Amino acid sequence: MQPKFQAFVGENPKIQKIFEIIQKVAPSDSTVLITGDSGTGKELAARAIHAASNRCNQPLIILNCGAIPAELLESELFGHEKGAFTGAHQTRIGRFERADTGTIFLDEIGDMSPNLQVKLLRVLQEQQFERVGGTKTIHVDIRIISATNIDLKKAMEAGKFREDLYYRLNVIPIHMPPLRERRSDIPLLINHFLHKIHQHSRQAQASSKIFSEETILHMQRYDWPGNIRELENLVERLSVLVENDTIQPADLPEKIRTFQPPVMQDTLTAFHNGEGFNHAVNQFQKQLILHALNQTNWVKAKAAAMLKINRTTLVEKIKKMDLETEQQAFFRTNNPLGLLCADYKQFHQVEQVIDFEGFGQKCIGA
Ligand SMILES: Nc1ncnc2c1ncn2[C@@H]1O[C@H](COP(=O)(O)OP(=O)(O)OP(=O)(O)O)[C@@H](O)[C@H]1O
Ligand SMILES: [Mg+2]
Repeated sequence: MQPKFQAFVGENPKIQKIFEIIQKVAPSDSTVLITGDSGTGKELAARAIHAASNRCNQPLIILNCGAIPAELLESELFGHEKGAFTGAHQTRIGRFERADTGTIFLDEIGDMSPNLQVKLLRVLQEQQFERVGGTKTIHVDIRIISATNIDLKKAMEAGKFREDLYYRLNVIPIHMPPLRERRSDIPLLINHFLHKIHQHSRQAQASSKIFSEETILHMQRYDWPGNIRELENLVERLSVLVENDTIQPADLPEKIRTFQPPVMQDTLTAFHNGEGFNHAVNQFQKQLILHALNQTNWVKAKAAAMLKINRTTLVEKIKKMDLETEQQAFFRTNNPLGLLCADYKQFHQVEQVIDFEGFGQKCIGA
């Protein structure tokens, strides 16, 4: 599906599903609650909903409820009348009034105080409110989208978030998956960000940069706790700092270069991506084998001993599971026999040594 919202990229089935939901819900006035970890694209999703809605030519007002002290938030949302409190020298229009006929995006909704939660519930139910210190009821026509990276169900159980408000906000739930559950989108996102940097900074060299396949492999293996924001910042940093046209694994921060994925991680990712039992089990085998190989510097006899299988069985599995690319990536990064490799390549006039065991008997181009 070609999303209407150009800046929002992703081909992974999980994100495609989100594009579908956004296109379906955008024309309605239903309240949407967007959940997901930090940097997963919650604000981008809210903007996309507004942009694809009938309200797209009306204002989109964004308010981060966590960034404003509780005592100021009420007046920020509802506005206030002159003299409502010390320092209120003039009548002030709040965000709800400014969002009239448009959309309001309430970010970090979980940080809202219980007192304001009651007032927000009334706006949701009746689309009306009074300014702080005012008596006149103001009617508005707004669509409310909210977002949170905390677990509102837990907050509800702990008595910190009202149940009635939760159900009102959560009419259409959208959950933004973490980047580690949609790693297949990483190459696409890298290109998108290179293009974005190029457009914004007119920095000619940014879009001409290329991330080598191995660099991408490393990036796909990493778990991205800061999600897409972390990826975006890294692409920007590398495109500015790396002088060569091709970005290599050595240019990556050490934590990404040396990241060892927990063995179960890719299995669960495959499972959550809708793959069945057999695929998940194969994925698990692959991860276990990779783990043993990485632990033993890809010395197959040692890895086989660790796994308690025959060396020949291991070699067959490496072939069957297509782990040779992983092996090359491992050697390029860790290069335990680097010097030997260089001598060997020079002596045999080969491009690439792909098996160091037995000191490089097997070479591409040999
Ligand atoms: N699918 C995507 N395609 C392109 N850019 C994306 C995508 N998702 C997120 N981004 C970019 O990643 C950055 C973080 O996204 P956003 O601010 O929407 O995340 P968030 O979930 O609201 O984060 P936080 O919880 O920290 O507020 C933004 O610069 C956004 O443009
Ligand atoms: Mg945000």
